[in-house]
Amino acid sequence: MSHWSESTQERAREIIDLYPQKRSAVMPLLYLAMAEEGHLTETGMEEVARWCEITPAQVLSVASFYTMYKRERTGKYLISCCTSISCMLLGGDEVMHAVEDESGVPHGETDEEGLLSVEHAECIGACGGAPAVQVNYELIEGVTPDKARDLVTWLKKARPVVVNTDEMQELFGGRRSFDWAIPETDGAIGPFPAFQPLGTVESEGGE
Ligand code: FES
Repeated sequence: MSHWSESTQERAREIIDLYPQKRSAVMPLLYLAMAEEGHLTETGMEEVARWCEITPAQVLSVASFYTMYKRERTGKYLISCCTSISCMLLGGDEVMHAVEDESGVPHGETDEEGLLSVEHAECIGACGGAPAVQVNYELIEGVTPDKARDLVTWLKKARPVVVNTDEMQELFGGRRSFDWAIPETDGAIGPFPAFQPLGTVESEGGE
């Protein structure tokens, strides 16, 4: 019997149907398990194993390899600061320290309220707009330490339901890698990637 909600089970079926073999759905289903419980639990991974018809050990081997699968409680907002080479050369470490200082949350930890988690990240593919930061995997480029502090304060006060890259870029970003041209109205509604099939993406205003 499944521990997941009916809507999550429905999404799991839809995702599995996209693949010729059930086991190929292990990665999206791991995000479903995270969205269901807030982070990956033993129960969630066992559930994924059943859906994909593989062993829990095989599921764990995938979940433990990728840093975006969180096996511990993550705050409502996950702030990831890139400290790889391009960002580091342009002040990524200072941005990271500003985020840690303003939030009171060191790398790899979550505040007591469960609002903010902070982590440093390896290259997030926005080197041209370094230093880059993500909130719930929504990107902000050209961030300064002062803007990083403003970002933390905004998250604490505004507590947006949907975290949107364009809005945060406008408020806290600087030079971008390039003009994306198409406005992005969707955003993330949890500390996992905004991805339509997972149901973790929503338009601003919650529609
Ligand atoms: S080094 Fe930071 S985005 Fe690539």
